[in-house]
Amino acid sequence: MKKTLLITGGAGFIGSHVVRLFVEKYPDYKIVNLDALTYAGNLENLKDIENAPNYVFVKADITNAEDIYAIFKQFNFDGVIHLAAESHVDRSITDPNAFIQTNVMGTANLLNAARLAWKGNFEGKRFYHVSTDEVYGSLGAEGFFLETTPYDPQSPYSASKAASDHFVRAYGNTYGLPFVITNCSNNYGPNHFPEKLIPLFINNICNNKPLPVYGDGKYTRDWLYVVDHARAIDMVYHGGRNGETYNIGGFNEWQNIELVKLLCKEMDEKLGRTPGESEKLISYIKDRPGHDRRYAIDANKINKELGWYPSVTFEEGLSKTIDWYLANEEWLNHVTSGDYQSYYAKQYADKGASSFYGE
Ligand code: NAD
Ligand code: DAU
Repeated sequence: MKKTLLITGGAGFIGSHVVRLFVEKYPDYKIVNLDALTYAGNLENLKDIENAPNYVFVKADITNAEDIYAIFKQFNFDGVIHLAAESHVDRSITDPNAFIQTNVMGTANLLNAARLAWKGNFEGKRFYHVSTDEVYGSLGAEGFFLETTPYDPQSPYSASKAASDHFVRAYGNTYGLPFVITNCSNNYGPNHFPEKLIPLFINNICNNKPLPVYGDGKYTRDWLYVVDHARAIDMVYHGGRNGETYNIGGFNEWQNIELVKLLCKEMDEKLGRTPGESEKLISYIKDRPGHDRRYAIDANKINKELGWYPSVTFEEGLSKTIDWYLANEEWLNHVTSGDYQSYYAKQYADKGASSFYGE
């Protein structure tokens, strides 16, 4: 094998697309997927490549420093692509500690393991940290996040990601650890856990459940098809410059309510419902505390330096995503059984929502 790469969080939404891309595109790399399999990690996401000769799965928790160092010693990694994280803003509001542990301490454990295992000899090594546009805070009606935008995280989730970004840069500056960081906008696509807006609403439309729109619904996000994020990660891992940050976005801003209406329209068509039927499920509920008004990425740096640009239009991506959920009912049933029901009841019950799961 030419290289051995560690991908953390590879059983999650974005991680599974990154693992698949690397396993298939680089048969001469050994890809080690390290994941704790939390509620968000699911090996069903990787069924199609689980027996590939260049793929290894290791169940481990990045908050356990000893285990992580032992895994670095065992595999002698050439590089790390770090995606493992607690990723849902609403969960960070109810349980910030899990985010501090995994996103901050877990990242520090990986940095320490890389530094110790590589013994200061960083030739050919790379630590790639996958981060979010949420570290920049919230925009007004105008403007975009640039790589130079000052950090201003507003939720426990984004604060924990911002802290992890700072640690990665500090290890680069202090110990010379070769790193790259990307800050990406909202992803959507197959295998997205149905706690996030798009898959949650697809699932609720299928089940004729209310669609819980927070606040006035005029919050804006910039959406990117997950496979295009995985392509960007490949390009930055192989072509990005050490010590640099690259913003990744979809050039595709949508107000939540407009996106939800589009989703309803598409779902009506695909489910053979009367036009307007799914829209009747829209239910405005109490807002998310500290809700960031608008995110929008300027992704011109990665475009100019590495030639990356989204390959999938939003209409195409949304249609593919809905088709995937409709064709993968079993996947959806597995992830929405058990703990999901109690999460849902707790998350939405005090927000003025009724007739939801578990009630
Ligand atoms: P996800 O929640 O779907 O998956 C996270 C994965 O990490 C899961 O497989 C989970 O089991 C694993 N994990 C969690 N805690 C762990 C621990 N302590 N040890 C080992 N593994 C652990 O998340 P996602 O949406 O795929 O996001 C992946 C990364 O990309 C995160 O770092 C997130 O901050 C970042 N990101 C996400 C988006 C987005 O829109 N989803 C956008 C930009 C950046
Ligand atoms: O911007 C990148 C970030 O995007 C990632 O770093 C995060 O991991 C990812 O979860 C995502 O964060 P958001 O908070 O933007 O995503 P979410 O899908 O939770 O919400 C999208 C928008 O929809 C947001 O304005 C809140 C709103 N929303 C969400 C849910 C779950 C609702 O109105 N109702 C809901 O039930």
